[in-house]
Amino acid sequence: MKAVVLDEITGANDVVISEVPIPEVRPGWVLVKIKAFGLNHSEKLLRLNEIRADYIQKPVIPGIECVGEIANPSDSGLAVGQKVVALMGGMGRSFNGSYAEYALLPRRIVFPIESDLPWEALGAAPETYFTAWGSLFECLRLTTEDTLLIRGATCALGYAAMQIAKALGCRVVATTHREEKLPLIAQADEALIDDGKLTGKISGVTKALDLVGPKSLRDTLTAVEKGAIVCQTGLLGGVYALNGFDPIKDIPNGVYLTGFFSNYPTQKVIDEIFAFLDDKKLKPKYGKVFDFENVKDAIFSQDNGSIDGKIVVKW
Ligand SMILES: NC(=O)c1ccc[n+]([C@@H]2O[C@H](COP(=O)([O-])OP(=O)(O)OC[C@H]3O[C@@H](n4cnc5c(N)ncnc54)[C@H](OP(=O)(O)O)[C@@H]3O)[C@@H](O)[C@H]2O)c1
Repeated sequence: MKAVVLDEITGANDVVISEVPIPEVRPGWVLVKIKAFGLNHSEKLLRLNEIRADYIQKPVIPGIECVGEIANPSDSGLAVGQKVVALMGGMGRSFNGSYAEYALLPRRIVFPIESDLPWEALGAAPETYFTAWGSLFECLRLTTEDTLLIRGATCALGYAAMQIAKALGCRVVATTHREEKLPLIAQADEALIDDGKLTGKISGVTKALDLVGPKSLRDTLTAVEKGAIVCQTGLLGGVYALNGFDPIKDIPNGVYLTGFFSNYPTQKVIDEIFAFLDDKKLKPKYGKVFDFENVKDAIFSQDNGSIDGKIVVKW
C-alpha cells in the first residue's frame, strides 16, 4: 500500500510516498480502508521535532485521525464495509496512523457512523468536531442562552465551534488577530480584532473557548462575566504553559477555568456529533481537499499557513 513513512525530522520538501505492506490484523485491532483524513498541527510537530522522542514508534506513519471503511474486522464484530471514523489514542505516534491506504487500528478508537456526507466532508470531522464538541458541551456546558467568546476563531477548530454554537442559537463573539480575516468570522454576532487585550472591550460573555491559549489566558479570564466558564483548548499563541500563574489572583472570583484534551473519544460523543450535524443539516467545514498523490502539497500548505480551515486529504 501507499503511505507516508517518517523516521527522522522531515521538512515538507522531503515528504515522499512509499510502498509498504498492508498490515495484518490481530485480535482487538481492525483494518480500515482509508477514504479521507484531516491534517493536524500535532502532525507538523511530530514531523519537525517530536519524531526524535523515545515514545514515538519509528518508522511511523503519521496521522491522528481518519474516516474510511472496515476492510477486515478481525474479532470486532463490525461488518466489512462499515463506515467508521477513528482518532487519537496514540494513533500516528505509538502505532501507525492515517497517511496511508490502510490503517491497522485498535478497536477502541474506531467508531461506526451512519452518514451520507461525502468522504471529504467526513474527513474534516473526527478530531476537529470531537474537540469542538467536547470543549463546548463537556467543558463549557454550552446552552442556547449563552454568549460564547471564541478567541482565535480563524482556525479549523474555531470555524467548527462557531458553526455548532450558531446552529444551537447562541450569541457568538469571535476574534482574529488579522484584520484581513474579519470577513472569515462574519457569521459571528460580533467579530473583532484581538490585539491581546479583550478585557473592557466585550461584554456579556458567559462562556469562552480560548484557542490562543496560555498567551491570552489571563486576559480571557478577566474579559468574561462573573459566573462564566473559560475553556483552554488551543495553543495558537505559541505559549504552551504558564509559569507564575497565580490561581488566587489570576482567576477572578466566581469565574471557572477548565481545559479540554481530545485523547479520549467515545462512541457516545461521536454519535451525538453526527446526530447534531444531521438534525441541523450541517456539513463539516473544510478549507481545501487534496488527493493522496498530492499529500506533499497538502503538507506544504499546512506549513506555510496558506489555507484557511481544515486541510483534508482524500483517496
Ligand atoms: N486540546 C486539544 O485536544 C486540541 C485538539 C485539536 C487542536 N487543538 C489546538 O487547537 C488549535 C487550533 O487547531 P486547528 O487544527 O483548528 O488549527 P489550524 O486550522 O491549523 O489553524 C492554524 C491557524 O490558526 C490561525 N490563528 C488564529 N488565531 C491565531 C493566533 N492568535 N495566533 C496564531 N495563529 C492564529 C493561524 O493563521 P493566521 O495567523 O493567518 O490567522 C494559523 O495558520 C491549535 O493550537 C491546536 O493545537 C487542541
